Amino acid sequence: MLTESAARKRASYYNQDHVFHFWGQLNAAEREQLLTDLEEVDFPLMQRLIDKWVLDEPPPEHFNHIEPIPVIPFDAPDAKETWEAGETTLHDGRVGIFLVAGGQGTRLGFSGPKGVYPIGPLTQKSFFQYHAEKILNLQRRYGCSLPWYIMVSRANAEATRAYFNKNDYFGLGQKNVQFIIQRMVPCVDTAAKFMLETPCHLATNPNGHGGSIPAMVENGVLDDARKRGIDLLSYFQVDNWAAKVADPRFIGYHVLRNAEMSSKNHRKNHPREAVGVHCLCDGKYHVIEYSELDIYPQLLQTDAHGDVVYYAGNPAMHIFTVDFIQRVYEHFDSFPWHRAFKKIPYIDETGVLVKPKKPNGYKFETFVFDALRFIQHPPVGLEIAREGEYTPTKQYDGDNSVVAARKSMNSLWSKWLDAAGSPVPRQANSESAITIEICPAYALNQNEFVEKSAGKTWPVNGDLAIDADGNLQYTGPATVPA
Ligand code: UD1
Repeated sequence: MLTESAARKRASYYNQDHVFHFWGQLNAAEREQLLTDLEEVDFPLMQRLIDKWVLDEPPPEHFNHIEPIPVIPFDAPDAKETWEAGETTLHDGRVGIFLVAGGQGTRLGFSGPKGVYPIGPLTQKSFFQYHAEKILNLQRRYGCSLPWYIMVSRANAEATRAYFNKNDYFGLGQKNVQFIIQRMVPCVDTAAKFMLETPCHLATNPNGHGGSIPAMVENGVLDDARKRGIDLLSYFQVDNWAAKVADPRFIGYHVLRNAEMSSKNHRKNHPREAVGVHCLCDGKYHVIEYSELDIYPQLLQTDAHGDVVYYAGNPAMHIFTVDFIQRVYEHFDSFPWHRAFKKIPYIDETGVLVKPKKPNGYKFETFVFDALRFIQHPPVGLEIAREGEYTPTKQYDGDNSVVAARKSMNSLWSKWLDAAGSPVPRQANSESAITIEICPAYALNQNEFVEKSAGKTWPVNGDLAIDADGNLQYTGPATVPA
């Protein structure tokens, strides 16, 4: 561990001596804690960020010309060929699953990791369980092993591990589920000083999901993947119960086009929908984040039919080749950082905790989609339908919420039941009048559900949840999903 004198020297060189303000009052363990925090700080990087973003205010990136990206339409005719290429790749064991799950459930009113949130309306199944059940299904279908790498943050690593342990890794086997912890970055106040959360702890935040790139390399994910013969990682976010964890069609396009990074796109609902936008900026692939829409107002344009012109929303689903991740890592010094001005609790010089009412400091983050800047071959952009694939959960109610996600489950699964010959009772607005859950380990799509339902009549006179073996896990009086 860093010695006190080395830490003081380093802090002093970078004008951060104040972090030792409480040193005289700290016990041995607390001193060790502060030294551990300081050891993890990349001081030269922080100085670069401070020079660029705190002591200066760089103009936003300027592009002469922004255009919509070319997107493979949902119903492209070559779908069969690509589907087969993807299935072969899965069957050959070349795919690993990479999930970013560093966030907490705070915006959903939940105190644990977001992935643990009980999104299933009847079974209270978590996001993690939904994803695990999809992996189980694919492993069975393709006779392959799909190792699951999960990026967590320091804030939720312990709780996430404990949750998987308690649930016996959902039958995936502990050696096939690996957790990696992303790095933290100090928060910086407007005077360019690191902030303290306690007398022995810096105020820090996770380094953004772009942190998955160094985390994959430094925590041995790429080595592990290579050992297992994996050359592709299917990347998605934890808060979307419907995400296709490894989509054969998407993988097929990626493989056939020799892409290094591929991305899915969905049509934006409205110009200000809170999603990033994939576009071509001066001929180069970029995602412009929703927080930057006012900087590039052309992205808000609609056409004569009222449709969004720059429609390619970013559902944050990508495929990366392992070699591409390695290459980006080797150039990570030039990976872009983003700054957010936030309300950051801190202790003042008397040791009193201050919870500011207005933004008072900067958080720095990296975004994984900025890896697009490092591609050497054009990426695949594949359009997806929202239903059955993209229902992100950012808050409890409203747009992209728990309530909306549960509605989407019902809308999707009621169609499956209809197609399987058990028509679902409807409300006046034609929405399902019962609450439904179908375990993804049982069926991943309508065809599979219909096939497995041959000869069965599902009891649709009340709520029902169907488990991994096609048994009724729950039945009860009809309720409208909430
Ligand atoms: C994100 C994307 C946005 C996209 C939208 C789709 C960013 C900056 N923007 O927005 O382009 O259209 O999702 O739903 O991400 N995470 C970590 N570590 C971190 C930060 C985030 O693991 O340091 C994980 C979270 O657990 C979550 C995901 O990344 O799974 C996205 O984070 P979130 O804060 O929900 O992003 P959004 O602002 O909703």
